[in-house]
Amino acid sequence: MTAISRRGVCAAGTTIAAMAALRLRPAAARDAVRPALPIPQELRPDARGEIAFTAEAGATSFMPGARTATYGYNGPFLGPALRLRRGETVTIDFTNNLPVPTTVHWHGLVIPGDVDGGPHRPVAPGQHWRPALSVDQPAATLWFHPHFYPTTAAQVTKGLAGLLIIDDEDADRLALPSRWGVNDIPLIIQDRRFGEDGQFFDRMNITAVTSGYVGDVPLVNGVRYPEARVARGWARLRLLDGSNARSYMLTASDGRPLFVIGSDGGLLESPVELKQIMIHAGERFEIMVDCRSGAPFDLVTLPVGEPIMRLPPFDDSVPLVTIRPDGADMPGQLPASLANLPQTPAELPPISQQLVMKMFRDEEGMMPLMKAGLAMGKSGKIDAAVIARVTKLIVDQPELSEAAQLSANGVNGRPFALDEPLFAAPRNQPLRWRISEGDDQMLHPVHIHGCQFRILSERGQPPEAYRAGWKDIAPISAGGYSDILVSFPYPADPHAPYMAHCHILEHEDSGMMAQFTVA
Ligand code: C2O
Ligand code: CU
Ligand code: CU
Repeated sequence: MTAISRRGVCAAGTTIAAMAALRLRPAAARDAVRPALPIPQELRPDARGEIAFTAEAGATSFMPGARTATYGYNGPFLGPALRLRRGETVTIDFTNNLPVPTTVHWHGLVIPGDVDGGPHRPVAPGQHWRPALSVDQPAATLWFHPHFYPTTAAQVTKGLAGLLIIDDEDADRLALPSRWGVNDIPLIIQDRRFGEDGQFFDRMNITAVTSGYVGDVPLVNGVRYPEARVARGWARLRLLDGSNARSYMLTASDGRPLFVIGSDGGLLESPVELKQIMIHAGERFEIMVDCRSGAPFDLVTLPVGEPIMRLPPFDDSVPLVTIRPDGADMPGQLPASLANLPQTPAELPPISQQLVMKMFRDEEGMMPLMKAGLAMGKSGKIDAAVIARVTKLIVDQPELSEAAQLSANGVNGRPFALDEPLFAAPRNQPLRWRISEGDDQMLHPVHIHGCQFRILSERGQPPEAYRAGWKDIAPISAGGYSDILVSFPYPADPHAPYMAHCHILEHEDSGMMAQFTVA
């Protein structure tokens, strides 16, 4: 393990050297403090159809003078972008070089339960796992991350996450911007909080299991406010909200339109023009932006509704990354139509499954925040004294005992249990499920394994156009509910069931997860 960790650390050093070299170019000299956006390396299967893949511990420098202990895939923080094509079968040769057990889950990949990498497929330190993944779904931006119960949140916080990109012929024919890192730009958006020792703050206390992780430093591809030098022309941004809990309301600093071309599981029927796009934990959207003029802009996040997500700096617009189109001219245009999605049947099946997200201790978590002055349903700035008191609760409240953590949340009335499949779903059948919450009014971006689904309605209304394509996450909030049309093409047996859970990882790790079989 040491050899590999050391190699990881060296790799980080090389990246920093490469960035320094970039900055020597005269045009960038005045911007010397801005780090370049790191572009995850593309990783394709070798001639034998294999991908060598490790999880390892390392250290990463996020700010001058501090080294933070981190985890990563094939490197010290985050991971490469795995690139698979529809129709191929690839074997992932995974080695766990971490000091802790982990799993690797392929979020959004529609595959059988036994290769899904859920909590039932732990890989012990030093051990291997060789799942064969057969890719049969449309081009999409998916991702991978650990799913080890109940420490997924801690492992993702440390850095375990990466992109998994599916290519196919239909998408190839559209000639979308596809020069990786040139006009096809991956953006993994996360937030972190650092302790005084420069390490990531991470504590499963009552605030965390109710409100989720609250960071105060935005990172894009692991770097604070980087700059991406891109081609002139149309740029494609692949957005992943890889945060444990935080939602972002993204917009361009100069108000230029964002054309949404894809959601979690693939391309939309046609581009959807928006000024702002909301993205929740675990979700992906692909957007295209017109960069033909060469004018730079910032991708910015605006304050969102959840009060705890409006603590500084997120009480104001926060620039996440600068897009500077000063590269070569690249041809390309925004296609008028993108993909053919199946029409939803006029006759819908009856609701066959309810998933009710439940918080058993929300009062206990929320009361102290409210007493500290955090007002619900208010917008605008928060008083400095309130910020100080709320931050103290986030940071100082004691860690819960494991028993208290594991019973804080649930689905359909009970907390997750590894040994008990909660329900069974029939294979290859269109199903209508309803996802809702108890009386807690919190935001829950609910994710389901083994499928890509369509949102039929949210609170009884049709979803907005940019959310009407393939999805694997249905966010619900403020007592809302969402009906989805879903079908499971592969089996998942009781030894390796699929998961349905809230993608606020602190909710997931405290019971807001259910397992189900497909046969
Ligand atoms: Cu992205 Cu079950 O997870
Ligand atoms: Cu998943
Ligand atoms: Cu939740």
